[in-house]
Amino acid sequence: MRRSLAVFLVMLCALLGVPPHAQAAAHEVTYDRYSLMVDGERLVLQSAEFHYFRLPSPALWRDVLEKLRAAGFNAVSVYFSWAYHSPEPGVYDFTGVRDVDRLLRTAQQAGLYVIARPGPYINAETSGGGLPAWVKTVPGRARSSEAGYRAAYREWLHRINPIIARHQVTDGGPVILYNAENEYQVNTDAAYMQDIQDQARADGIDVPITTNDCCDAGSWSSTWATGPGAVQIPGVDDYPQSFECANPDVWGPWGEGLTERLRDDIPVFAAEYQAGAIDLGNAGYDKCRELTGPAYMKYFYKNNLITTGATMASYYMGYGGTNWGWLAQPNDVYTSYDYGAAITEARQLTPKYDEFKRQGYFLQAVAPLAKTDPAAAPAAPDNPALTTVARANPDTGTQFVLVKHADRAATGTDDATLDWAAPDGRFTVPVRVKGRDAHVLVAGYDLGGQRLVLSTSEIMTHALIGGRDVAVLYGTAGSPGATILRYGSQPVVKVLDGAVRAAYRDGDLRLDYVHDGLARVLVTGGGRRPLLLLLGTDETAAGFWRAGPDSAPVLVRGTELVRSASVRGDTLTLAADTAAGQVEVFAPPSTRRLRIGAEDVRVTRTPSGSLLGATRAPEPVRLPALTSWRSHAEAPEAEPGFDDSRWTAADHTTTASPHPPKTLPVLYADDYGYHHGAVWYRGHFTATGTETRIDLNAITGLRGNYLVWLNGRYLGSAAGGVEADSGDSSTPPNPDPGPGHFDVPAGALKPGADNVLSVLVANTGHNDDWIADDLRFKQPRGLVAATVGGTPIRWRIQGAAALDRVRGPLNNGGLYGERTGWHLPTFPDKSWKAADANLPPGVTWHRTTFRLDLPKGQDVPLGLRFGGDPSPAYRVQIFLNGWNVGQYGGDIGPQRDFVLPAGILDERGSNTLALAITAEQPVTGPGPISLFAYGNVRSTR
Ligand code: GAL
Repeated sequence: MRRSLAVFLVMLCALLGVPPHAQAAAHEVTYDRYSLMVDGERLVLQSAEFHYFRLPSPALWRDVLEKLRAAGFNAVSVYFSWAYHSPEPGVYDFTGVRDVDRLLRTAQQAGLYVIARPGPYINAETSGGGLPAWVKTVPGRARSSEAGYRAAYREWLHRINPIIARHQVTDGGPVILYNAENEYQVNTDAAYMQDIQDQARADGIDVPITTNDCCDAGSWSSTWATGPGAVQIPGVDDYPQSFECANPDVWGPWGEGLTERLRDDIPVFAAEYQAGAIDLGNAGYDKCRELTGPAYMKYFYKNNLITTGATMASYYMGYGGTNWGWLAQPNDVYTSYDYGAAITEARQLTPKYDEFKRQGYFLQAVAPLAKTDPAAAPAAPDNPALTTVARANPDTGTQFVLVKHADRAATGTDDATLDWAAPDGRFTVPVRVKGRDAHVLVAGYDLGGQRLVLSTSEIMTHALIGGRDVAVLYGTAGSPGATILRYGSQPVVKVLDGAVRAAYRDGDLRLDYVHDGLARVLVTGGGRRPLLLLLGTDETAAGFWRAGPDSAPVLVRGTELVRSASVRGDTLTLAADTAAGQVEVFAPPSTRRLRIGAEDVRVTRTPSGSLLGATRAPEPVRLPALTSWRSHAEAPEAEPGFDDSRWTAADHTTTASPHPPKTLPVLYADDYGYHHGAVWYRGHFTATGTETRIDLNAITGLRGNYLVWLNGRYLGSAAGGVEADSGDSSTPPNPDPGPGHFDVPAGALKPGADNVLSVLVANTGHNDDWIADDLRFKQPRGLVAATVGGTPIRWRIQGAAALDRVRGPLNNGGLYGERTGWHLPTFPDKSWKAADANLPPGVTWHRTTFRLDLPKGQDVPLGLRFGGDPSPAYRVQIFLNGWNVGQYGGDIGPQRDFVLPAGILDERGSNTLALAITAEQPVTGPGPISLFAYGNVRSTR
């Protein structure tokens, strides 16, 4: 029934000439060995990963998604984090920053398909790999079909699946694929993998189901290709550059990154292809961007495209975002999840973005790429440093030749002559490919109304605009280029700009040139419609944007970003981001006026038939200094007289954890419902007076610590738990980071009376469950052992207070100030004293407010900068208007700058910053602290 309605609507849209992705009508998704198809039309899926939970500002989702679309991506891949939505069993929240309906609507409005990845396990360097911490207390192995876990994950799937289902392509929405589980390769359970899919189908998922196999393992494609657990389109993850950003000069230490063909009946799917890195060695994300920069992208992505014919690729990450609150898996990442991605955490575009754009536009413009087989490649006999690989479209004969040069330290020349048997004849043409580079050259291609015999320039895009073809080709600056076009008779060639030699012989127009700036050639006559050929370099090509509907595209040169374009009457209106500079638009000749946002831009017509104008610089921005900090010390919990009678009694003698307690009672914070951030313990004991030492053992996740007081007297601190989930997977996790010994100071005990041991444990997040062994994920948090000689201790525990419904379960831990609202903008701090740089051991809060009045119509992403050297002796939780936007400190990571996202930040109003500083010893506090801007553009954001 629904299917026939879908077909009817598709036909209706076709009749009305509405482009498929703009229709809110149902479509059919199919596939064969070459590619995905929507309503029978082939698609090269070019997707980038984006995590809405790492950008807690729904208004900015549109900005990032539009930026991805503008780079030529036609899809976005999204993990849905179970932990982000569910604070406790049976409780789910899909409102506010968790409104995934809004996310999916926004993706569609941006013109992107969605690969929906709801796990249940997602990894992604998120706390627990996306499994809520409460799952740690559920019996049954996580990521298996065991009963307790099964009930839990089904609960999640039945909440998230219906939301995804109502946004499927098959119902007129953007969701084109459904990804079950994540890199589920070790300790697998086929019944579980099958059940995820059965639940999805029962919940209305009818798009193809995929999974992302790890590391070339291919389990779900080979062992269970047809058995329980097998998915329709398995894909493979590849991270050829590894994650050691400190050494960005490496070249494929984890292999060539060639995505295997897994089956004959499905396309080659690079489900997660490396497009950045976690910063394992704390080198900073700029180094990760270098590790995975344009040279890597050119070589590895093009090699994968042509060598294996992958027509489905999703790049991890397109935009990384922020591990705000307690979102991060504690062992591998810190607050920033910038990832060295093409779009930075502060939403800025980078040279990697330019490279995605060059490649993405090509993939979208040149349709024969969606169906290719391996083909004979032309040789480059005069330079063995260059190698070639080719594919051809069996229907059109169009050839795609990869010329690659893998060696950066190559000696000798990078030039070669290609002896090329192209579909339209045999030619010798010069090519130059420098070390660590690769070019995809095209031959035998119907480029709009033209016949491209071949070109040694790469095609970026082409468009039919106002009755003529406009094509942008490019090559490395300084390298030779040759483009051959076929005509029925001699055409008229006009070189409008640059040095291009044209020669016509026997139907072939041959253009020879050196890639330099932007050459322009107008070709008319010859029995074809006119062609404006724009021959650029990597840099000048990256200056182009393609926008507007597929049926009426325009090209724009200049501006910082073009989000969309529409032509009405004689006016072209762009939604664009601009700074001072030139803007040139290639639009139908009837277009005489240009508007950007709400502003008219004065333009003149150029010899290329385009319109040329200038954009204005944005208004400069002055940011307030952060002054008038007020301060208050806390930690009344350390005082013996503190009333803990309403705290939870920690008296369990058993636990569902696979890690047996070292001492009783069980003190694992999760067992008492305290899952995130700081947790306090108060242990009461009647001292004999002979106790000489206190032995404690806490597991916090890497970068955590714990502080200890006896009867209000500070005894010191110790490092918390070690990393337990990476390294040799055969080694059992180490639940024992080594006990902390604290000597009882003389006179500190009150023999025969109540003595109080107060312990503040910093829980930095939960291990992931990458190898599905349960042990790492279920490693406890909080105290795992505590003794004061042999004296019995009665314990109480306190973590986060009531759930913050707006900010969610990951925002807060159990510091006194957090439980009492010191982080909230509404908190009255007038009675606090002026802040002092000297901090005592324990917890001290600093607060200030600042007003902003950022210019309207501009995008000025702001950050908070910690100057000076951070001390390992303190850790700072940063709250902006009540939102926990990050953790700073010498032990936490190399991060000094923290993004303050608009939406949480009031760009035209008052803002409150609150810092909760936990010091292990007397120390000078962090600073100086200032605001700064990551960028400034006029924007239609
Ligand atoms: C993959 C995993 C992703 C992410 C990535 C590294 O193995 O599927 O979720 O963890 O590694 O950033």
